[in-house]
Amino acid sequence: MDNRPIGVFDSGLGGLSAVKELQKLLPNEHIVYFGDTGRVPYGTKSYETIKRYAEQDVRFLESFGVKAVLAACGTVSAVALDDLKQKFSIPLYGVVDDAAKKALRETKTGVIAVAGTEATIGSGIFERKLSNYGLSRYIGAACPLFVALVECGFYKEDDEVAYQVCERYLGFLRGTGADTLILGCTHFPILAPVISKVLPGVKLINPGYEAAVKLKETLDNSDLLSLENDGKVDYYVSDQPIRFENVANIFLAHDIEAKMIDIEKV
Ligand code: DGL
Repeated sequence: MDNRPIGVFDSGLGGLSAVKELQKLLPNEHIVYFGDTGRVPYGTKSYETIKRYAEQDVRFLESFGVKAVLAACGTVSAVALDDLKQKFSIPLYGVVDDAAKKALRETKTGVIAVAGTEATIGSGIFERKLSNYGLSRYIGAACPLFVALVECGFYKEDDEVAYQVCERYLGFLRGTGADTLILGCTHFPILAPVISKVLPGVKLINPGYEAAVKLKETLDNSDLLSLENDGKVDYYVSDQPIRFENVANIFLAHDIEAKMIDIEKV
């Protein structure tokens, strides 16, 4: 048993798609969440900048004495996770590997598509992992506007703007044989209802969910689950806490409070 909190971070709201799953799977865990709303998006930044931001984010969560950190950000998982693992002794998890494995189990056609940020698709991480695991056909789609849509609250099923952008980025997948789409950025599951309208019948893989399942299994196997905590989540952001609270409320379907911190001073 280990009652220390779990740290979760993302560039903004996307990591909440993982928090939502963690709360269902690990209802006793205390979570400390950091959303880097002052510096979002990460996916259009250079690898050096993403690594520097990610290091500061982990350092901030480390100050809470966390027992594990989930980089609930596809971009950080793709670009900075190996680097972070060398710098920190806390167990660190990302959202890429388990999503790739799940997609391989799901596909019937053997054609898997990945939607991600420019940095994630450009890193080639999903392509490498999927081909190492034996996949022959991969299609990558960088969808940089998706993060802005989610951060601005344009993600409901009937949102016309969200539909047009999803169609523009992902419509080309119809007719390619891709039957499985990895939502390789944790913001993207928030857009899942709209993406499914553009790609009916395509199985969507939620990386936050797959990472949450893995984290539960890992903590359980190491006897590190909390039995006494009440499942509360402390939210921290680097800018605009009220704006974060408002959009997060809609997505999580309950009220939250976010505190602002200066991440550059951590
Ligand atoms: N949720 C982040 C990811 O998974 C968004 C990245 C960004 O800020 O561009 O990649």
